[in-house]
Order: sequence, then C-alpha cells, then structure tokens
Amino acid sequence: MSQEVDVIKLMKQEVGRIAASRVKSNSIVGLGTGSTSAYAIEYIGDRLKSGELENIVGVPTSFQSEVLAKKYGIPLTTLDAIDHIDLAIDGADEVDPQKNLIKGGGAAHTREKVVDSLAELFIVVVDSSKLVEQLGSTFLLPVEVIPMAVAPVTRALEQLGGKPELRMGIKKDGPVITDQGNFVLDVKFNQIDNPAQLEQKINNIPGVLENGLFVGLADVILVGEIEDGKPKVREF
Ligand code: 5RP
Repeated sequence: MSQEVDVIKLMKQEVGRIAASRVKSNSIVGLGTGSTSAYAIEYIGDRLKSGELENIVGVPTSFQSEVLAKKYGIPLTTLDAIDHIDLAIDGADEVDPQKNLIKGGGAAHTREKVVDSLAELFIVVVDSSKLVEQLGSTFLLPVEVIPMAVAPVTRALEQLGGKPELRMGIKKDGPVITDQGNFVLDVKFNQIDNPAQLEQKINNIPGVLENGLFVGLADVILVGEIEDGKPKVREF
C-alpha cells in the first residue's frame, strides 16, 4: 500500500470512529455508503456488541451498506416502518465552504439523498482531500438516469453546459447499474456557480431520477486530517 493511500485510510478510519461515537442509544440511524461510512458502520457495530449502545436500528442507503450493517450486527429497518431518522452518517466526494456536497462516487446518491434528507441530524464524514472552494472542481457530478432516456438526458445536460460520460463498470462489461437498475452519467461542469439552481434544473430533465448535488442538507462536517503524523478530526 502506498504511503498516500495509507494516510487517507487513517483519516477515514478516525473520522468514521468519531462519527460513530455520536450515535446515541434508542435511535434510528441512516447508514451511508462508501469507504468512510463503512468505518462508521463498523464502529457502531463494535459499540453495539460491547453493550455501550443499545436499541439502534439502521436505515441503509445502498445494498452495500445493508451488507456491512448485517456483517457488523446492526439491526435494520425500512422507511415504511419508521416516521423519522434521528441521525444519518454519510460520506461525500466534495464539500464546499457552505457545506454543500457532491455525492454519488459509489452511484448510491439517490437512496442517500432520501435517507440523509430525512435525518434530524446529518453528519458528513470526509478526509481533508474532499474540501473544495467550489463544487465540481475535482469531481464529476453523478446523475442517475433511467436507461431508455440516456440519449435525450445527455443532450439536455450538454445544453446546461455539461460534458456527460456514461459511467462504465470495472470488472463488468458495459455501464454501471445502480441499486435501482439505472445508469449513471458523470458530468463535467466547468464551474458550478449556483448548486441549488443546477440541482433543480437537472432533476427537471425527464428521465433523470436524481443528481449528486446535496444543497443545504448537511448539518455537521467532520473532517479527518493528519497532524504531526497522527489522525485527528476537525468539525465545521
Ligand atoms: C456513494 C457516496 C460516497 O459517500 C462518496 O463517494 C464518498 O465515498 P468514500 O467515503 O469512499 O470516499 O456518495 O455514492
């Protein structure tokens, strides 16, 4: 493992651990997707196993977070069975100074937006490489599209100034298929000046299910950093 990968892993682990330490007994917890959320899920499981936490139910944001929750012994529920979520913990691909996010690196942004937006407290867990001055500067914007509408949605996104690319599978020929059975277009925008407006304009294109802009949803951002060779967590 390269040193850089190692350092990023340390930051993700620590921020996942701190987020998990904020979960209280008797609560309903949204379980995010991605490698940072995976550490939070693992630590919540550890706290349940040790008896430090009691009576937790999780709402997974993807097939993958469901698998992890089962592995670490977190009981699960669905949105049909509950009327609120106390806390959601989820990762992000970019975070701007206004706490707006780009998500969807794992193609899970549609379910993530449903769960994270229902949470009374939404905690975002990232390593410091995810902080940007402007959204779209390092990461393409994921847009989930129903398969039969890929061509017209591609044209509509181009008209909005984007350059869409169909996300392709790794170790699978053809496009990535989401948990809903759809495709993902990753869109390069030179500048996202007004994330709230762009989020709505994209979601208004017929055939788009959801895009990865999360505007005004995050309450707390926990940032994993390395100081004097040791991981630490800062909140903003
Ligand atoms: C999945 C997501 C993830 O939360 C995001 O990609 C961050 O992942 P990681 O913690 O692995 O960097 O939005 O759709």
